[in-house]
Amino acid sequence: MSGLTVARRLDWDEEESYFHSESDIKLRVDNVTKEFYVKGFGKAPDQTTVIALDGLTLEVKRGEFLVLLGPSGCGKTTLLDMFAGLSFPTSGSISIDGQPIKEPGLDRGIVFQQYALFPWLTTFENVEFVLANNNAPKKERVKKVKELIKMVGLEGFENHYPYQLSGGMKQRAAIARTLTFDPEILLMDEPFGALDSQIRELLQQELLHIRDQTGKSILFITHSIEEAVYLADRVAVLTARPGKIKQIIDVPISRRERLESEDIRSDPLFSETRHLLWTLLRDEMSKSQEIKEGKAHED
Ligand SMILES: Nc1ncnc2c1ncn2[C@@H]1O[C@H](COP(=O)(O)OP(=O)(O)O)[C@@H](O)[C@H]1O
Ligand SMILES: [Mg+2]
Repeated sequence: MSGLTVARRLDWDEEESYFHSESDIKLRVDNVTKEFYVKGFGKAPDQTTVIALDGLTLEVKRGEFLVLLGPSGCGKTTLLDMFAGLSFPTSGSISIDGQPIKEPGLDRGIVFQQYALFPWLTTFENVEFVLANNNAPKKERVKKVKELIKMVGLEGFENHYPYQLSGGMKQRAAIARTLTFDPEILLMDEPFGALDSQIRELLQQELLHIRDQTGKSILFITHSIEEAVYLADRVAVLTARPGKIKQIIDVPISRRERLESEDIRSDPLFSETRHLLWTLLRDEMSKSQEIKEGKAHED
């Protein structure tokens, strides 16, 4: 394993010092396996079992930005759905603050790749939606919504409908809406995957600012190595399906450096980390390709 590390900068240890005890663990999956039972049809009527995750163990610490990086189909969304309380493990346990996750809750905000906005509501109304349904007083609500719209850089677009917004703007609105109920944890499933690269980089930068301002714990899914290095305190690399942890990498770039550097992507530590992740992922990508090709031969 010695070849698979990157140099550390000194001030990184200062930042890690608040991750100490059991109570600093926000989310935990312990030895989780998830199987799907797929009904056959036509010439292959038998039920088949898809093992999406196999004995996966992982923790997300309080205030941490953890990125899950893995090839397509390795079970990333399956894991996020379980953290969201939308599905449950076949075996193993999954918990938030030490309590088993049994249902969705406002302590977890989710941002999907598709912009989950209501097309018939304006930006303001979309962001206000959850608060309006919570019967929060109108004055407070308006103040909060205005603050959040400003935080995500959508001032001036309050009265636009989703069809009048670009992809990046829709995703900003979706992030603002998730922040309205002040969840402790953000679960983000390839939220910038559909955006072009410049807008994507801008939103990545703004997400780091939002994290800095709000201190939220973030579990972020991507299959982009570059995005993982730019955002993550730690990157958990998953194996090809059935997904389990291949390796967890500490990204040796401080939060301050990311926020203040003009071009952190050209930093040698950035390239080193990217290369390390690429090496880890390359093997898994080829395995995942083999799984697909194998399947094609069977068909
Ligand atoms: N509801 C489901 N029924 C059957 N198979 C599923 C279901 N959800 C996911 N899968 C399978 O589980 C595996 C992991 O899927 P997913 O978590 O969506 O992968 P990822 O998000 O990493 O691309 C895939 O092989 C997928 O086809
Ligand atoms: Mg997915």
